[in-house]
Formats: sequence, C-alpha cells, structure tokens
Amino acid sequence: MQNNNKNNNNFSLPNWLSSNDSKSLSKHAIKKLEKIQFQKQKQKEKKKRKKNQSKKIQNENQQKEQQNTTTPTKKDKQDHEEKGSQIEDEKLPRKISRKNRKKIPLSNFRIVIDCSFDELMSVFEIKKLTNQINMCYGANNKAEKPIKLYLAGLIGRTKAKLESTNGFLNWRIFYDEKKYQEIFKKDEIIYLTSESEEVLDEIYEDKVYIIGGLVDHNRLKGLTYEEAKKIGIKTAKLPIDQYLSMRSRKVLTVDQVFSIILNYINCKDWSQALIKAIPLRKGAKVKKDQNLKENQNLKQNQNENLNENENENENENQNQNQNQNKNQNQNQN
Ligand SMILES: C[S@@+](CC[C@H](N)C(=O)[O-])C[C@H]1O[C@@H](n2cnc3c(N)ncnc32)[C@H](O)[C@@H]1O
Repeated sequence: MQNNNKNNNNFSLPNWLSSNDSKSLSKHAIKKLEKIQFQKQKQKEKKKRKKNQSKKIQNENQQKEQQNTTTPTKKDKQDHEEKGSQIEDEKLPRKISRKNRKKIPLSNFRIVIDCSFDELMSVFEIKKLTNQINMCYGANNKAEKPIKLYLAGLIGRTKAKLESTNGFLNWRIFYDEKKYQEIFKKDEIIYLTSESEEVLDEIYEDKVYIIGGLVDHNRLKGLTYEEAKKIGIKTAKLPIDQYLSMRSRKVLTVDQVFSIILNYINCKDWSQALIKAIPLRKGAKVKKDQNLKENQNLKQNQNENLNENENENENENQNQNQNQNKNQNQNQN
C-alpha cells in the first residue's frame, strides 16, 4: 500500500511532495526536506505567537489609556467645579477624541506657554502666536514622549482665537486664566529667555519651563527677562552658543523653543535637538569641534586616570620591595 506522505523507508514526507518525486529522492534528501518543512512550521508558529503578543500589549495599553482618560469620578467632577480651573485638575481627564485616546500617555515633563501678553500684541501678532501654539500642540502629539503642555494666563483675544480653533476643546492640554506664578511653586519655575546669563544644560521633571507667549518682532526686547527678575524667578537661555554657530539672532519663536525642549527630552542630545528645530534660513551649523572637544576631554580624563593608576601601582610596588628588603635584613640579623 502506498501512502502519499510516506516513502519506502517509512519517512514522513512534506505534503507538497508528490509520491513520484519522493521515489526519486534519496533518504538524505528527504530528511533535508523534512527539516526545511519543520523549520518553516516553527517560523509560522513564532510569527503567530508574536502577533498575538503584540495584540495583547496593544489591548492592555488601550485599556490603561482609557483608565487614565475616561469618565472622571464624582469627586473629580466636584473638585473641578469648586476650583473652576483646568490647570489644577491635572487628575481630571479632559474628554479626548478617539484618535487622541490611542496616543501615548503624557510624560511628567512640563512646559508652560505664558499667554499673559495679550494686550501687548496686535491682532496680526495674536494670530501668529495662536498658530505657533497650534504647532507646539501638533509637535507634542507626534512626539514619542509627549510632555504636559500648559497655557497659563490665557485671556482676551488669545483665548478667544484659540477657542475658535477647530478641535481646541479636545486638545490634550491644560489651560487657565491664572498666571503661571499663581499656579506653580516659585522654586520649581525656570523662565526661558535669551537674555539670561544662565545656560540650560538639562531638563528635569521636577521643574516647570516657561516660554513667553509673545510675538513682538523684537519690539519688546528683554521684557520676559526683566519681568522674571522682578518676580525673583530663575531664568535660563538655550545652549545655542555651546552647540551651534549661528549667523542670525538667537531669539527664537515660541514653537521653535518648544520643539527644541521636546526634541531634547526625546533624544537627549542638544546639537540634534537644536538643529532639528531651527530653520535653515537662520544659517545654524553644529559646531564641528563639539564632538572633538568632548572626545578630547574624555580621552584626557582617561589618560589622567591611567597615569594616576600607574603611579599608584608604582608606589605600591616600591613599598612592597622595601618591605621585602626589611624582612630579609631582619631574618639575616
Ligand atoms: C519671540 S520670543 C519673545 C521675545 C520677547 N521680546 C521676550 O522678552 O522674551 C518668544 C519666547 O521664546 C523664548 N525664547 C526665544 N529665544 C530663546 C532663547 N534663545 N533661549 C531661551 N528662550 C528663548 C522666550 O521664552 C521668549 O519669551
């Protein structure tokens, strides 16, 4: 009796091999084919397992996201009504769209756009500012590690313009009419301003970084710096000089500054973070000697450590030799 899947030597054959084929194959060739089929089967199973696993993770993430963002409790709602503030109720999730629900949870880094300069801007400048805020929101939504974006001191025409923006009420942001200094503790605030003597070198989760919501075409030079100094708040400028050579002014727009901080949080590399966000027309170039300098410093430190180790070893050897000599002398005596 002949079985399609068996050859004369009782080896099970791959389904796709016809009995005629099998007759002409050697025992070794059949074994090889079996091995290939076995491996293929294994690969298929592995793929299936991987697919199931990623589906499971996706479902879990979606569930977590829903827990974080849907149906506020009765107490949350009460708190919300009593305080009447969107910023204070970080705990209270805003109703977010289905599309946004799928997005990654916000990290603990905080950036505030200080929108309290409404009266100092023309209608045209306010329109520009709200466009820039729009860009900040868009960039944050696309980021791998989105941050918490706050609009503080949001009043007047800026507020009205933003509220008339399509979908604004569903944005994953926090906003308040109160000024930033009424919302956050003084010692956690760092006002970003190009006039500062301090240079920003790291971004921390326990600090709040303020960007002046101003489009002034250089009309109100140093305004945010003077205000922050008056209130007694720490300031810092972006480390542009340290990482880039740049032809033009180092005063950037709100969305550019926001993107630089967001980039840095995501890539932890200032050169990359800066060059990615600053427009070409500004003629910025990464300082070539930046890497060289860092490497040279590293090498210098390594050499110094090596020398120190060598000296220590030499001293140790000398001490050992001296001790040995002493012992020999004592024994001889
Ligand atoms: C167009 S600038 C407004 C300049 C305005 N005259 C002022 O007094 O700040 C918008 C905001 O971006 C931030 N900014 C711009 N360039 C910066 C830099 N080089 N370093 C730190 N922050 C900067 C500041 O927060 C600034 O208020």
